[in-house]
Amino acid sequence: MGSAFRVVRSAHTTPEAERAAILAAPGFGRYFTDHMASAVWTPDAGWHERRVGALEPFSLHPSTAVLHYAQEIFEGLKAYRHADGSVWLFRPERNARRFARSAERMGLPRLPEADFLASIEALVRADEPWVPAPTGEESLYIRPFMFAAEAFLGVRPAERVVYCVIACPAQPYFSSGAGGVTLWVSTTYTRAAKGGTGAAKCGGNYGASLAAQTEAERHGCDQVLYLDGTDEEGHVEESGAMNLFLITSRGELVTPALGTILEGVTRDTVLALAPEFGLTPVERPVTFRELRASVTDGTVTEVFAAGTAAVLTPVTGIKGEGYAFTIGSSEPGKQTAALRERVLGIQYGRVEDTYGWLRRVLGP
Ligand code: COI
Repeated sequence: MGSAFRVVRSAHTTPEAERAAILAAPGFGRYFTDHMASAVWTPDAGWHERRVGALEPFSLHPSTAVLHYAQEIFEGLKAYRHADGSVWLFRPERNARRFARSAERMGLPRLPEADFLASIEALVRADEPWVPAPTGEESLYIRPFMFAAEAFLGVRPAERVVYCVIACPAQPYFSSGAGGVTLWVSTTYTRAAKGGTGAAKCGGNYGASLAAQTEAERHGCDQVLYLDGTDEEGHVEESGAMNLFLITSRGELVTPALGTILEGVTRDTVLALAPEFGLTPVERPVTFRELRASVTDGTVTEVFAAGTAAVLTPVTGIKGEGYAFTIGSSEPGKQTAALRERVLGIQYGRVEDTYGWLRRVLGP
């Protein structure tokens, strides 16, 4: 039973009325459930101390390696409540595998897939009342992460590592939701380089995105569109928290090829669903010059971004230094809306899960 996460219930859970008030308008990442799952790794003992206990702060020595060298990775996935009260995860095995790849890139120990899944399921079961009712697009957002917990200032892989899972009831990441976002094409910042950490889900990638995000907001945009260089001759990469997709008038669903971008679970889901909507999925490099020209001449009819937190978010406009253009009439596209509805339909159990993507955590 290497994967058993022993549950020690919190003695101070949130009163029901307070939880109900939070669940009425949770926002994103602001309120947390009563418990956390955790485990510890050392070279001699491997993974041990698997448990689910009360959510509590860490106590870290000021020399703890993660505070200095950012040896940290994370994941993001959601638990969905269906109309019959049951609770489900969506393709969590994909997150487990990406977590393992991120760990390898960041010199962290690999967490077995069975531990990843067991920790999440144990936490969701312990915090079941926190999984929102399926009235809108609310879900329980789950954040597994792992960090270098050794108190040591040498630059080498840590010999004490902590794995932890926390959860928060969540509404869609963007308050504009299905209404759409605008993107700022940064020629100041790039997100990743070949051989770098772009494909890993490590905190450093997100920390480094904050200056670019501030730049985007200064120009009145919601998010950044990263290129692989600092001029507009470069290739389109991703949007920091989301992968990018283009729908063409030829019936293609085009997304930048993997390499320096995150291998999104929603990205893969959308590519798999594309043929159901008469779209041919295409993964290939896309230059910014091509994107701009094909939006202008009408070859690209819709643009959207996809991620676990963001679901499918239409992109309605793109801006850069000295130019701005809208996508179509700057209204969210019809095919984007249909794909979005299909993904959410499967996640919330409103349509049949013909792909076997859902994993039941709690029965009705
Ligand atoms: C996710 O979509 O789960 C993410 O990790 C994006 C973001 C909230 C950092």
